[in-house]
Formats: sequence, C-alpha cells, structure tokens
Amino acid sequence: MALYSETVMDHFRNPRNVGIIEDADGVGEAGNPVCGDIMKIYLKIEDDRIRDVKFETFGCGSAIASSSMATELIKGKPVSEAMALTNKAVTEALDGLPAHKLHCSVLAEEAIQAALKDYYERNHIPYDERLC
Ligand code: FES
Repeated sequence: MALYSETVMDHFRNPRNVGIIEDADGVGEAGNPVCGDIMKIYLKIEDDRIRDVKFETFGCGSAIASSSMATELIKGKPVSEAMALTNKAVTEALDGLPAHKLHCSVLAEEAIQAALKDYYERNHIPYDERLC
C-alpha cells in the first residue's frame, strides 16, 4: 500500500490557496521545533465568515498537503466552524496520513487557531482558549 493517499499527493503537487493576503484580518503562525517546519495562515474575514484564506508553508509534503486541505475546509465557512477545525478533520479529509506525519496536520490546526486569535485580538473580541 502506498504511504500517502492520492488526496495527499494531489494537495502536495497542486496546493490550493498558496500565498499571502496583504490586508489580512488575521495572521497566524505555527512551527514544530523538532522538524523545524513552519506554517503561516492569512485570513480575510467579513460578516463573520472566512472570505479568503492563504498559506505559506516551509515544510514537508504532508505539511503542504495539510495546509492546502485545511484552507479548503475553512474557506467560505463561518468563523465558528474554522475555530472548530481539528487536525483529525484535516487528516480524514486527506484520506489519512502516516502515523509519523500526523504532527504535520497539527501545524495546520495550530496556525489557523493562531490566525483566528490574532483576528479576535485586533477586534477586541474575547478569545475562548477552550476552543484551542
Ligand atoms: Fe514536521 Fe511535516 S515533518 S511538519
């Protein structure tokens, strides 16, 4: 059996939503100190919805695929749904990741959470840590 699903390979080879948003409403970054990979998420939020999302990822193929899938999963969705996105949901949407690559999907969850926290702070909205 192949180590990576076709979905992972597709999102690795053709990542969606790569780039930056100059006038982002929230920017968040997450990194893994062990592998050194870094992921940055940019959010454009209007009417409590994720109107646009972009990412920059300096990391492995699984991290790039996770970033791509995570951005697809939250694009156009209410902020509350983006808040609730878990690395498990990202992994499932990718049709799985090898066990030693699960931490790559955690970066996506953490970077999105960090970007939402930034958005909340900029708008003086109380941020509920329990949703992290
Ligand atoms: Fe660390 Fe993939 S190996 S994010």
